[in-house]
Amino acid sequence: MRKLILTGIAAAVFIAPGAAMAQAPIVIKFSHVVATDTPKGKGAIRFKELAEKYTNGKVTIEVYPNSSLYKDKEEIEALQLGSVQMLAPSTAKFAPLGINEFEALDLPWLFKDEAAYAMAMKGPIGKWLFQKLEAKGITGLAYWDNGFHMASANRPLSMPADFQGLKVRISGSKIADRYLRDLGSIPQIMAFSEVYQALQTGVVDGCENTPSNYLTQKFYEVQKDITVSYHAHLQYAVIVNSKFWSGLPSDIRQQLDKAMDEATDYTNSIAVKENEDALAEIKKSGKTTLHYLTDDQRKAWQDAMRPTYTWAKGRVGQEVLDLIGRELDVKMN
Ligand code: LMR
Repeated sequence: MRKLILTGIAAAVFIAPGAAMAQAPIVIKFSHVVATDTPKGKGAIRFKELAEKYTNGKVTIEVYPNSSLYKDKEEIEALQLGSVQMLAPSTAKFAPLGINEFEALDLPWLFKDEAAYAMAMKGPIGKWLFQKLEAKGITGLAYWDNGFHMASANRPLSMPADFQGLKVRISGSKIADRYLRDLGSIPQIMAFSEVYQALQTGVVDGCENTPSNYLTQKFYEVQKDITVSYHAHLQYAVIVNSKFWSGLPSDIRQQLDKAMDEATDYTNSIAVKENEDALAEIKKSGKTTLHYLTDDQRKAWQDAMRPTYTWAKGRVGQEVLDLIGRELDVKMN
């Protein structure tokens, strides 16, 4: 009997590994915090389709949207530990990695439009920032766009005085913390998955985000007034664990790079329209009131937030500010 079992095990050991190795795909877990029906959510699905196609099924991409696998902070830790292989966090969330320079991208009214943003990230700024990640064992593959932030509360936010004493949820950037303090509010860092409930129960009074996130997370249902201020930009860095990435067979990595390039073009090509459509849908719902800043009101916000630019030096360092100033031809202090 014992002999029989041992023979059985030997046969299993002999057959199983070869058979399994020929079949078993490389699994890439791609975790993110937003809904599938958003630019990032759609980009992740597009990447999955292309990656599986170009690698002929040798790679399987498992996409986990809506914080279903990890919340904001946990996902970055999980990437470093290798429990997940790919993420696309907003660049406002890199401070826990000990990299503050990305937060320079959160400066208010930094990008005058989407074209300026796209130009910056495709050029030296985007590359310089990605180099910073390498020391942390993380490789940056692409930047994905999600447009500009609006701001909301249960009262109209037209002038800086309207922010006085408001508890406002932010995603993590100290630059956002600073400009919201400049306006007189009290910012609070909170995981994305907790925002709806916090708004609903009054744990916070307001928040900032893009139309696609307001719509898909239903923030607009629990905020009476949204100001379409577009005061800061929301972008993502698609990142992988460097050890995992460099350990992939080079032909597979090339196919994945191609899939990522195409998924990036796709995501960035739909971001503006997705957000316009989301805003139209929010408006149509009648559940909130949209406000638009007059030129004078915008100028009042900009003046009130301007001290953030001077303050930023101590947080993100002069080098990245100089680089951005040069590339975008904007005054940084
Ligand atoms: C947020 O936390 O507000 C955003 O970063 C969520 C996202 O990924 O768009």
